[in-house]
Amino acid sequence: MVNPSQPAKLAVTNQKGGVGKTAVAINVAGALNTLGQDVLFVDLDPQGNATENLGMREVYDSEPPTLFDVLTNADIRETITDLVESHEEMDVIPASIDMTAVEPELTLSRRSGEQLDLCLQHVEEAYDYIIVDCPPYLGNLMDNALYATRNVLIPALAEDTSKRAFELLFDHINALAADYEIGIEERGVVVNRIDVRKTQAKEMIEWVNSAFEETPTWKIRERASIQRALTNGRSIFDDTESCDQADVFMEVATNLNKQFGFTEVQPGQWVMTVQIDSGRIETRSKTEHRVTLLALMISLSPRRLNRPNRLNNLNRPNHPTHLNKRLQINHPKTLRTQPSSKIRLEHTCTSLNTSIRNSLGNSICWRLNTSMSIMKNLRKIGIFIH
Ligand SMILES: Nc1ncnc2c1ncn2[C@@H]1O[C@H](COP(=O)(O)OP(=O)(O)O)[C@@H](O)[C@H]1O
Ligand SMILES: [Mg+2]
Repeated sequence: MVNPSQPAKLAVTNQKGGVGKTAVAINVAGALNTLGQDVLFVDLDPQGNATENLGMREVYDSEPPTLFDVLTNADIRETITDLVESHEEMDVIPASIDMTAVEPELTLSRRSGEQLDLCLQHVEEAYDYIIVDCPPYLGNLMDNALYATRNVLIPALAEDTSKRAFELLFDHINALAADYEIGIEERGVVVNRIDVRKTQAKEMIEWVNSAFEETPTWKIRERASIQRALTNGRSIFDDTESCDQADVFMEVATNLNKQFGFTEVQPGQWVMTVQIDSGRIETRSKTEHRVTLLALMISLSPRRLNRPNRLNNLNRPNHPTHLNKRLQINHPKTLRTQPSSKIRLEHTCTSLNTSIRNSLGNSICWRLNTSMSIMKNLRKIGIFIH
């Protein structure tokens, strides 16, 4: 992926509860991760469903400081970095029990709708995407999500009551956008939990298709496997059980990548990867090395370097985007992950001639190269995908 300079930010929102905000947010995040994007997931719902559905129930009960504190105390905003939890598929800023008290507290704040945005400025650099799961009401938290992300993905049920919900939501979004003089983009509508046997579902889908001509719409069926993956603390993309709705979530992710200006690396293109001058990665075979290196190239980020099992994941056969491209590189000697944080790709691409090396700079700009302190240890290497 070629990354735009800013992370893409998206609020998954609808003031109606139970429509699948959390389920859609987690599975879209899972799909983006499968496509090699680094995702930060923010659970802004005081009920903490996403926190629980990402397997972090115990964090929800943790002692302060929590998200409540960074949102309500301007002096400690930057400590939001301490709240970031690791998940196999994404990083997570979890909700906590004290978030239930945040609404009145935010009302007292001078810049009540801007607090999340001000906090995220301290972490966003490390990510391609920030996905915010919203609470089921129109209040300060929702305003914070809208202001910080400026982009919405709207899950809705295939039933009549959804029309009114859309109306209320768009009134709210428009009012907020006017108050703060900002633009808020509708990136898509996900009609969720569709039961094709119901005629109401068919009518609603037709209505959505005609009401949202310019906005992409997707349809997700009611599936127990979606529910089960969430119970297991992950998206369907990381669950052992397969789910026939994965393609739709993947379409959402691919479309978002396009809307936000990420470009997929095409066969025949030169891309850059990095060399980090401390630590090393080791692989046993050439194939394993290729896959690992490709995985690194596509998804390496400062945060992921801290996760040794990240690479094991990417070697799994259900990551087609990582596996079906081959790399033309010379035999590596060592490529070994370490539980610590640094990695070294100890090889050179001798097949690169100077003119190709020189043109590399134009073909890809990789955000990793401009982020975090690790940068000073990086060197660029060209890789050809064929
Ligand atoms: N497509 C789906 N198929 C089956 N269950 C779903 C689906 N989408 C959501 N659910 C389940 O429906 C319930 C409500 O969804 P949730 O994502 O929590 O809604 P919200 O966040 O809007 O309140 C949850 O138990 C969730 O696991
Ligand atoms: Mg929810």
